Amino acid sequence: MHWPMAFQRGTELMPKRADGSVCYDDIHYQETWVAMESLVDKGLVRAIGLSNFNARQIDDVISIAKHKPVVNQVECHPYLSQAKLLSHCRSVGVCVTAYSPLGSGDRPWASPDELCLLQDPGLGAIALRHSMTPAQVILRWQVQRGVVCIPKSVTPSRIQQNLQVFDFSLSDEDMKQMESFSRNERYIVPAVERDGKRVWRDAEHPHFPFNDPY
Ligand code: A2P
Repeated sequence: MHWPMAFQRGTELMPKRADGSVCYDDIHYQETWVAMESLVDKGLVRAIGLSNFNARQIDDVISIAKHKPVVNQVECHPYLSQAKLLSHCRSVGVCVTAYSPLGSGDRPWASPDELCLLQDPGLGAIALRHSMTPAQVILRWQVQRGVVCIPKSVTPSRIQQNLQVFDFSLSDEDMKQMESFSRNERYIVPAVERDGKRVWRDAEHPHFPFNDPY
C-alpha cells in the first residue's frame, strides 16, 4: 500500500480537481489491508506490505491482520536514519526497505544551494578510510543495520558499484558516526505551493503519516 491515505478510484494514481486539490477517498487503510489479504488468499500475490506508514499505523494494520505486512518501505538515508521506526519495525518483525537511500540527488525539486548527501564531508571521510565511494558506504551502513536498499541509477558502472558492498564492513565507530548524520530531513513528500510557500500537500489528511514523530 503506497500511502496510508486513500485516493479516489479511477485511472489516475493521484486524482486531482481542476483547482489542483487531491481527490481522496474515505477508505481506511485497515480496510484496504483486508482487500490486499484476499489477493494472498487467492494465490495472486505471495507477500503484501506497506509504504510510508508510521509506527502507530503499522500497529493498526497488524492489529487486524490475518497476513502480517512483510515490509514497510520508507525514505531512509543518512540524513533521515529512521532509527526509531526501524527499531519499532524490528520489534514487530516487519522488514524495512529504504527508498531514496542515496538521498535522490536527482530529484527535480532539489534546491541548487543545498548540500548533496553524497558530497557530505563526514561521509566522504569514512569512504576515504575504506577506499570506497560515499554511495557504497551508505549502502553498507544500511546492510549492516538490516535495511534493504533500492538505489536507483541509469549508469551501468554505478549499478555495478552499488552491488559491491559485501566485501568490506564498517566498524562500530563508523556505524555510530553514520547515525549521527541524521537530521530528520525528508526529501520525498508530495508538496504544493500555498500562499507563496511550499508545504506538504497531504499534511492535513487524518492519515498523513509524517505528523507523528516516527
Ligand atoms: P545516475 O542515475 O545518473 O547514475 P536514489 O537511489 O537515492 O534515488 O538516488 C538516485 C541518484 O543517485 C541518481 O541521480 C543516480 O545517478 C545517483 N547514483 C546512484 N548510484 C550512485 C553512485 N554509486 N555514485 C554516485 N551517484 C549515484
